[in-house]
Formats: sequence, structure tokens, C-alpha cells
Amino acid sequence: MAAYDLELVKLRKVYPGGTVAVEGFDLQVERGEFISFVGPSGCGKTTTLRMIAGLESITSGRLMIRGQDMTGVPTEKRPTATIFQNYAIFPHMTVRENIAFGLEVRRLPAAEIRRRVEAMIEKLELGDVADAREASLSGGQKQRLALARGLVTEPEILLLDEPLGALDANLRRSIQEELKILQRDLNITFVFVTHAQSEALSMGDRVVVMNAGRVEQISAPFDLYTRPRTPFVARFIGRNKIIEGTLAETGAGTAAVQTRFGRLRGVAVSDAATVGSPALVVVPSEYVKLEAPDSTPEEGEDSIAGTVTGIDAVGPLAYVSVRLDDRQSVRIETHRERIAGRGMEPGARVALRWRSERATIVPDMG
Ligand SMILES: Nc1ncnc2c1ncn2[C@@H]1O[C@H](COP(=O)(O)OP(=O)(O)O)[C@@H](O)[C@H]1O
Ligand SMILES: [Mg+2]
Repeated sequence: MAAYDLELVKLRKVYPGGTVAVEGFDLQVERGEFISFVGPSGCGKTTTLRMIAGLESITSGRLMIRGQDMTGVPTEKRPTATIFQNYAIFPHMTVRENIAFGLEVRRLPAAEIRRRVEAMIEKLELGDVADAREASLSGGQKQRLALARGLVTEPEILLLDEPLGALDANLRRSIQEELKILQRDLNITFVFVTHAQSEALSMGDRVVVMNAGRVEQISAPFDLYTRPRTPFVARFIGRNKIIEGTLAETGAGTAAVQTRFGRLRGVAVSDAATVGSPALVVVPSEYVKLEAPDSTPEEGEDSIAGTVTGIDAVGPLAYVSVRLDDRQSVRIETHRERIAGRGMEPGARVALRWRSERATIVPDMG
């Protein structure tokens, strides 16, 4: 059986001051996977990346790259390269010299350095600025230079720490696409750190959600979005309507929760939860539709009531804000023509409805 490209086993990091930055991190990454790490600032993303790169020691646990234990292997001997948020470009060196630097440190023969540097310049379309210095480069060129410097060492795993943080939204989107294409083309593993959930979801083959040093969930983007397994993920990812209650019934992968809106059903993510314990009903707002309050739900639908508080129309779309009877608000995207003439003005009572299999029942550990 082939080894994983990257394997973390109960990885733990305690900084000298006593901060537990990472705890019990287990992860197995296949060759060529694009893995995103996402979570709020301070949750341990950078620390984990630095441990993989060998820039930070491991307090306990194991870290393997292609089956080889990395304990005691220094940074420059690891098959990794790191792209930092600020790029760390040397301002006094040209683009070409910046790219060559990592190979010179590794004492490669001059002809080999030249060959690899020129190939990188071509691959990342830096020919026009090969002799320029950082000060005269655009944001996109700096980004490509940072990539060229990492890739020229021919890493097995590229580690990217919020590499797009400094770019404006449009450039960010086009570089996201370039990065995906580059990664497929190189067929090496990317570990991509971001605090932006939309970026993590659009880039990753799988997404690792971190919170306070721990892994909350590791899933493919669609599963993460539609089937959160923890309260934190339900709140952090997507646009979910979350209704609190107590578990009333379980069976065959489904569950029902008693809420102040009555009994609501959904797919259960944990069969360990016991009846009577706190649970959340999580409904992606994309699956919620607006109906007249006195209409009858279809078979397999669940329904809750609220009052319209506002409508924003943007072209053919309409965003309807509804205050529910638990005082929470939700914003439902719909089409202008779907609500026209249906009496859905502010103050009107409405029913929010969804197919119960779209809802996920998550144990609420508090
Ligand atoms: N060099 C350090 N020394 C002590 N504590 C640190 C150090 N670097 C980070 N931390 C702490 O470790 C935790 C995780 O930080 P970090 O890995 O940088 O998170 P993220 O990249 O997700 O924002 C935070 O509480 C942070 O303050
Ligand atoms: Mg960080």
C-alpha cells in the first residue's frame, strides 16, 4: 500500500509560554490533493503549516511525509516549500535572483540552477520582469514570483499560508483559478491556509475546519456546506438557519428535534446522541422557500413561521428578511417574480419551508 503524501497523527503543539496552539490533529492526505485549512484567526493554522515545513518543533504526535517520519529532519531537507502571506521577497534582488536563491542555498550546480530558473520564469510568465526588483512588480507578479521561488525547489508538498490575503477581490479570484490549474498540472499536494470560508470551499478537494487548536471537521466542500457535523461548523460555514431544541427521536440515520416551532426532522450526523440531549436543526438557507402561512406543507417538508421585516431587490433577485418567532432573523434569496403578488410585504406572516432531508441534526455540546 502506498504511503500517504502527508500524515499527521495526534499532532500537538504547546508554545514555551504554555499556549496550546494545536491539539490532537489527525490528517491523511493523498498525493496530489488540494487541502484547505480554514478557521478564525488564532486557531492554529499557521502553527500546523510551520510544523509540516519544519519551521516549528512538534510537542508530541507524529508527522510523516510519504511515509517517512520527519522528526529531526531540518526544513531544507524536507520535500516542502512554503509561500508566506507577505511573500518574503528579497527587495534588493531581481526576480531571477530571487528564484535562484533557494537553489543556491542548496548548492545545486550552476547549469542546473539556470535551467530550472528559466523554466520557472516561463511557466509563471515572469519573462518581462525577470530583471526587475520587487518595488516595480504588480500584486499578481509578486504572487507569481513567490510561487516560482517555492516551486523551483521541486517540492512534493507546497504549503501556502494565506497567500492571497493582500490582493483585491478580482485579482484574488483570477489567481485562485490559476493556482488550481497549476496544482493539477504539477500534480503535487497543496496545503492551502485561509481564514475565508468561500476561498477554502472553492479551492479545496477537501477542507479542514479548525477551531481553537482542534479539527472540527474534514470533508469535501459540498459535504461541509450541506452536512456540518459540529455547531461550530454549522455557524462558520455557509448560510445556515440554526434552530435549537432537544433530541426527541432517533433512528436509521435520521432524527427529530423538539423545538419551539414544534418537531423538526433531519439527517443525523451522530448516532451517539441520546434522546433528551440538546441538539441543533441546521438548514442551509439555500434550501428554504417562502410560502403563504396558511398553505399546507407537502409530504416530507418541515415548516416554521415568521414575519417579513424587509425585502431588498437586486435585479431579478429578491432578498427577503424574516424574523422568526424565536426572534432570530433569516435572509432568504428568491426570485422577484416568485414573490410578486403574494402579499409578502413587511409585516406579513410567512411560512419557511424545506424538505426535511435537507436539514442536519447536530448534537449541541454547548
Ligand atoms: N511563536 C509563538 N509563541 C507563542 N504563541 C504563539 C506563537 N505563534 C502563535 N502563537 C499562538 O498560538 C495560537 C495559534 O496561532 P496561529 O497558528 O498563528 O493561528 P492562525 O494561523 O490560525 O491565525 C494563537 O493563540 C497564537 O497566539
Ligand atoms: Mg496564520
